[in-house]
Amino acid sequence: MAVTMEHALEVGAAEVVGTGDRRPAPFTFVVFGASGDLTRRKLVPALYSLDKRGLLPEKFALVGVARRPLGDEAFRSGLQEGLRQFAGTDQDWRWERLRNQVFYFQSNYTDPGSFRELASLLERVEREKGIGGNRLFYLATPPEAYAPIAELLGAVGLGGNWTGGYSRIVVEKPFGRDLETARRLNTQLHSVFPEDQIFRIDHYLGKETVQNILVFRLANSIFEPLWNRQYVDHVQISIAESIGLEGRGLYYEESGALRDMVQNHLLQLLSLVAMEPPASFDAHAVRDEKVKLLHAIRPFDAKAVRESVVRGQYVAGRVAGKAVPGYREESGVVPDSQTETYVAMKLLIDNWRWAGVPFYVRTGKRLPRRATDVAVVFRPAPHSAFRHTGAGALDANELVLRIQPDEGIGLRFGAKVPGPAIRIQDVDMDFSYGAFGSGQPEAYERLLLDAALGDSTLFTRRDEVEAAWAVMTPVLEGWGRVDTPGTMAGGAVGNRELPLSTYAAGSWGPMAADELLARDSRTWRKP
Ligand code: BG6
Repeated sequence: MAVTMEHALEVGAAEVVGTGDRRPAPFTFVVFGASGDLTRRKLVPALYSLDKRGLLPEKFALVGVARRPLGDEAFRSGLQEGLRQFAGTDQDWRWERLRNQVFYFQSNYTDPGSFRELASLLERVEREKGIGGNRLFYLATPPEAYAPIAELLGAVGLGGNWTGGYSRIVVEKPFGRDLETARRLNTQLHSVFPEDQIFRIDHYLGKETVQNILVFRLANSIFEPLWNRQYVDHVQISIAESIGLEGRGLYYEESGALRDMVQNHLLQLLSLVAMEPPASFDAHAVRDEKVKLLHAIRPFDAKAVRESVVRGQYVAGRVAGKAVPGYREESGVVPDSQTETYVAMKLLIDNWRWAGVPFYVRTGKRLPRRATDVAVVFRPAPHSAFRHTGAGALDANELVLRIQPDEGIGLRFGAKVPGPAIRIQDVDMDFSYGAFGSGQPEAYERLLLDAALGDSTLFTRRDEVEAAWAVMTPVLEGWGRVDTPGTMAGGAVGNRELPLSTYAAGSWGPMAADELLARDSRTWRKP
């Protein structure tokens, strides 16, 4: 592989190729919620790009299912427009070929008759296109529809009971609203599909740099020996977003940052950083270790929710020089909303490796810029040989895995400033993903490919999603944001005794988040 040398680290010639280069067997991709944004923005561009890389089987069909009355042609044109907008289509002949493999089916997701018709449509398309009977059902609908769709698929013989090929189901987030609803949804899905045919999406796992966390830890012998309480002082994981609600006010009011980002994406990052090395990179081994790690997170009690968790909501401010409204002024948001748009928390992991090492995680909307990273902050040198030289205090070494944007890895250490005196200054050794040349594949590309290959390593297993909810549900309870029968925990519900701090849009979050670290004599890094 030809790569250029960038900065101080060189991308070596050794290349270990994983299983991702295999082309899946012919299959039909059936997407529910096909008229929605995800299909146009992410799924179809990902399929298109897989096709471009020769990773989509020639015998393939896409069947879009949604409530809206649309014909095949109107559906195809909408997708083509989406490709132009979101994939910068540069090979129209490719779409010309693909478009004949795309079909639309209208259904309200509740009528068994319509699912029987869908079954006949699938058989007809498969016959005409010579595809065989492999089917990948993708649920990109509002979450209330997940269980009814799975149930109807089972009822008309399209579920795990289908014998004409494989029948797999991919489920988008959110997977449940708390531990109880996630368990219920798992039980409902399991009544139709076996676990190894259920693919729960967390799109962060499809990101190259997120997969690189394990590669970095386990393919190099120099870091893993340091990866424990003896050498690590603490870890900071940040997912900062500069965007606001992007027209998703109604969804976000019900969700909030904890459900939207922490229970899934942030806990996934934490698991990958902190889990024990799996014996092999396969679905069972990797996920077993992630689940063990999630179980080792110290449970939040009422005191810990009060003292170790900060929730915030943005008020009007400026992001990138532009004035933006406060959260409560956004459309779909109630005027006294208690929904958090920012969360920071301190997590402790009660196991041999991490005892006493805090993991500080944070995420928020309307922060100054988009930046996701993991910073491992090492303990200071145990003894300073330079203490009599006036060199000053030695700073801690820091290893930063930059997930996005500007993907890369930085290592910060002290170096002697040239000159007659001993002066020590922090310097950075930096690797940038740009060194690999071509752009990285989109997360959805990798995830769709893996689902079609039947590889669930990068998907969340039943016990994993429940373990993550088990960690976060007590926080929601402490905030008074769990659902009470007959109501949804909407924005106005909340435990007003636990403060919801505010922060100006365009700032790095509420003061309370700084105080959380200050109590431990630490500070947040600037991403
Ligand atoms: C989604 C959340 O899961 O992740 C969004 O629902 C958020 O609110 C998005 O903006 C962030 O994803 P990415 O890939 O842009 O970091």
